[in-house]
Amino acid sequence: MGFGCRPVIDRAAAELSCHVRGRRTIVHPRSIGSWRNLPSGNGRAGGTVEGGMTTIGIIGAGHIGSQIARKAVELGYDVVIGNSRGPETLADLVAELGPRARAATAAEAGAAGDFAVVTIPLKNYKDLPAAELAGKVVIDTINYYFERDGHVAALDTGEATTSGLVQQHLKESKVAKGFNHIPARDITTAGTPSGRENRRALATASNHEDATELVTRFYDEFGFDTVNIGPLSESWKVERDRPAYVVRQNVQELRENLAKAARLP
Ligand SMILES: NC(=O)c1ccc[n+]([C@@H]2O[C@H](COP(=O)([O-])OP(=O)(O)OC[C@H]3O[C@@H](n4cnc5c(N)ncnc54)[C@H](OP(=O)(O)O)[C@@H]3O)[C@@H](O)[C@H]2O)c1
Repeated sequence: MGFGCRPVIDRAAAELSCHVRGRRTIVHPRSIGSWRNLPSGNGRAGGTVEGGMTTIGIIGAGHIGSQIARKAVELGYDVVIGNSRGPETLADLVAELGPRARAATAAEAGAAGDFAVVTIPLKNYKDLPAAELAGKVVIDTINYYFERDGHVAALDTGEATTSGLVQQHLKESKVAKGFNHIPARDITTAGTPSGRENRRALATASNHEDATELVTRFYDEFGFDTVNIGPLSESWKVERDRPAYVVRQNVQELRENLAKAARLP
């Protein structure tokens, strides 16, 4: 089943189909048994059928986390979202998101996701639940603002990257940089269908090819083209204050902006 597939079971026809961005695909009948007994909506177990990745664990429920949750729910994903203060503080957000979303602790959100988005202030990245995120692709939106996060010498000297630090902490995860250079408001509004002229592009970087592939598909579902920067050691090219940071750009413009970036801003 495809990535981001929204499964629909027609029991009368004994058929499982998959809706992705309006397209309907019939899934092989042997999959039906796996889905038949599952509850609908967020109560189901997540993407375990034919490699489907249907549940996202989102850690951080602020500007970016809530916006990614909104778009993901619209696309048919189930979302489990957590923050630092506890699930009860997210009642309004999950009410708005509807039955595909539930609030949890950050650790529970990490554990529940087929993959995860981490979107918290950099100063707290060591709180991210490494055990629960082990083995998973983790999309990291985190930026470094020394005014908020305090100074990190390895970042100030250009010896490290923000996503590299996150990867060091989440040793067993596959960290991919994503959504760090788009303003939160644009996440739900700026996407356009694949192939549209002058489509907005976003960059990613990872040490893991399958993580880059997942982000590329996820960006596409959100309405964005992808430029792959390469490994996390190169991801500074899209960090704060570089030419590609929080500007609207298509693939060509993004490539040009990445090429213009200096190691220290
Ligand atoms: N805003 C943007 O347009 C934008 C764009 C790109 C990237 N970013 C980056 O993305 C990250 C998130 O930005 P944001 O604007 O969404 O921030 P935000 O609105 O301040 O939200 C931060 C969220 O992180 C949660 N959080 C903080 N510490 C945590 C911890 N230890 N464990 C679990 N959750 C924790 C907060 O929960 P509590 O409220 O419960 O503490 C809150 O839900 C930042 O690194 C930011 O630099 C932001």
